[in-house]
Amino acid sequence: MPRYRDDAKERIRDAVDFVALVEERTELRRSSGANHMGRCPFHEERTPSFSVNAQKKMFHCFGCGVEGDVFDYVQLVENVDFVGALELLAARTGIELEVEDEDPQAAERRRHRERLLELLERTAAFYERFLWESREAAGARAYLAERGLTEATLRAYRVGYAPSAWDTVLRSSQRAGFKARELHDAGLVVRGGRDGRGRVYDRFRARITFPLADARGRVLGFGARTMGGDRGPKYLNTAENEIFHKGRILYGAHLARAAAGKAGAVIVCEGYTDVLALHQAGVENVVASMGTALTEDQVGELRKLAPVVELALDADDAGQEAMLRAARVAASSRVELRVVPLPEGRDPADVALADGAEAVRALVGRSVPFVRFRVERTLARGDLSSAEGKDKVIEELRPAFATIGESVLREELLAVCADRLAISPDLARSLLLGRGRGARPAASAAPAAARADERPRVPREQRDARLEAAFLALCLALGADGARHLAEVTDEHFSDPLARAAARRLRDAPDAPPEDPELAAYLDRVRRAAERVEASTSATLEVERLQLDLRRVERLQQAAEPGARAALARERIAIRQRLDEAIDRSLR
Ligand code: CTP
Ligand code: MN
Repeated sequence: MPRYRDDAKERIRDAVDFVALVEERTELRRSSGANHMGRCPFHEERTPSFSVNAQKKMFHCFGCGVEGDVFDYVQLVENVDFVGALELLAARTGIELEVEDEDPQAAERRRHRERLLELLERTAAFYERFLWESREAAGARAYLAERGLTEATLRAYRVGYAPSAWDTVLRSSQRAGFKARELHDAGLVVRGGRDGRGRVYDRFRARITFPLADARGRVLGFGARTMGGDRGPKYLNTAENEIFHKGRILYGAHLARAAAGKAGAVIVCEGYTDVLALHQAGVENVVASMGTALTEDQVGELRKLAPVVELALDADDAGQEAMLRAARVAASSRVELRVVPLPEGRDPADVALADGAEAVRALVGRSVPFVRFRVERTLARGDLSSAEGKDKVIEELRPAFATIGESVLREELLAVCADRLAISPDLARSLLLGRGRGARPAASAAPAAARADERPRVPREQRDARLEAAFLALCLALGADGARHLAEVTDEHFSDPLARAAARRLRDAPDAPPEDPELAAYLDRVRRAAERVEASTSATLEVERLQLDLRRVERLQQAAEPGARAALARERIAIRQRLDEAIDRSLR
C-alpha cells in the first residue's frame, strides 16, 4: 500500500462537491445556509433527517445518529477503508495522489504499472465498444441476448468482444504509443513460433471478454469466452503476470461492495454469468470465484466485503470439494461460511434467469451453516450399512464437531447423526465429542472447541505444523508417488522441527526406530493418519506439496534482505500459479 503525502487529504476535501456526491444516493434540499437535508442513505425513513453541510463537508443523521466527514461517508457507502475512500475521491476530483519519498526504482516500477493499467483500461473500453458497434460482434450480441442478459447488465460489467483479427489490439495500442513489450507485460499479446521468437499477436480473438478487475474496479486482465468456433478452452484467461493474479481476484467485487456492506453478506458463485444474472435479478451482493477453489487471498477479500459468506457453488462433486477447501481456507479468517443449497444440475444463473430474484433470494435464505453441510455430506457419502462403515464415518465427523462449541446447532446435528447412524443419542455424543483415544489423525488434530459464533483463530505456526503433518501422512499413504514428493522437499519446507526431523527420517531411514521418543510419537501419529487417508490421489498430494512450497517462500520473504525480495516475489507468483493449476487438476 503506497503512503500518500498528507496534504492530499485536505486538497481533496476542498475540491469535492459533497452535496453532489450525496445526491447520487438521496435527494437533498437546502435547509439553511450551507445545510442540506434529505432521507438518510443509512437507514429506512420517510421524513428527512439526514443533514449535510456543504462547507464543512460533514454529515449527520438525527434519526440513526451516523455522522462524519466526507471520507467517512465514502467509507460507509462504498464499504472501503480510508485509503480506498481517498483513492475514490482522488479519482472523482482529479487530484493526483502524490506518493511520499519514493526511491527511483520504486517510482519506475509504479510508472510501469500505471502504463499497464492504462493499456488494460483502454483495451477494455475498446472490446466493449466493439461488442456494441461492430458487425462482427452481431453473433455475440445475439448469443448474450438469447441467454437473457440485458444491455444494461452487460454494460455494468463492461462485457466486450475481441475481434477475430490477429493484431487489432496490438496495432491500435502501438499507434497510441504503447510498446510491444508493454502489451506483452499486460498479457494482451503473445509471441508465436515454437521457440517463442516468432511474431507477436493478440491473445484474445473472436471471444466475448469479461474484464477482471481489482476491488476498486481497475481492469487487471480478462476472461474470454469462446463462441464455440475454435478449439481452445471455453474460457481463456489472462496468464499470471506482474499485475494479474487470478487467485487474488473476486469477479465483480467492485460492483458488489456497497450491496454486500448493506446486506452484511456476500454470495459467492462459480462463474461470470452467474454474477451477471444475479445482479440483473436485483441481487447485487454477488461475486464469482471463477471456477477454482477459493484462495486465501480471495477469502481475505470476501472478509472485507462482509462478515457472512454464502457459497452458491455447483452441487456436483467438484463444487462440493471446492466448498470443503474454502472452509479449510476460511477456518482461520473469521468469516462465517454458509452453503446455499442449489438444485442439482442448475447454477445460480439458471435459477435467476428462469425464476427471478425472489427464487434466488429464497434459495439464499435457505442456506445452512457450513458445518451442517459438511456433516450431512459425510453422512450421505459414508457406508452406514455396517458397524465398520459407521465407525469410519464417525472418525470423519469428529473434526467437524470439533469446530462447533456447545450450541443448539451442535445438539441438532448430534441428533441427526444419532438418527442416521442408528445409535443412541448418548453414544453419538460420546463418540462424536469425546476425546478419543489418541487415535486422531495428525492431519486433522482438532482445534480447541470454540463457541459457534466465534471461530478459533489458529495461529500461523500451528496451521503450518498441521499442513506439514498432513503432507507427511499423504506421502506415506501414497507409496511411490509419496516417496517422490518426499524426495523433492527440503528442510526449508518445514517450520515444525518435528516435521522436519520426521521428513528426513522417512526419506533416509524409514525403518529404523528413532531414539528420540518425541519423534517416535510424532511418526506414530503420522503413520496412523496415513492409514486413514482415503481416496487421495497424487493430485491432492501435489496440492499439499505446493502449499508447503508456498509457505516456504513466504517465510523466506519475511526474513529477506531488500535485495532478495523481488526474486522471492517472482518465485511466489510462480508457485501460486502451479498451485492453482494443481487445485484445478485435483478437483477434476
Ligand atoms: N473458468 C475458467 N476457465 C475455464 C473454465 C471455467 O476460468 N477453462 C471459470 C470462469 O470464471 C467461469 C467459471 O469458471 O465463469 C465457471 O465455469 P463454467 O460453469 O464452465 O462457466 P459459466 O460461467 O457458467 O459459463 P457459461 O454459462 O457461459 O457456460
Ligand atoms: Mn456455470
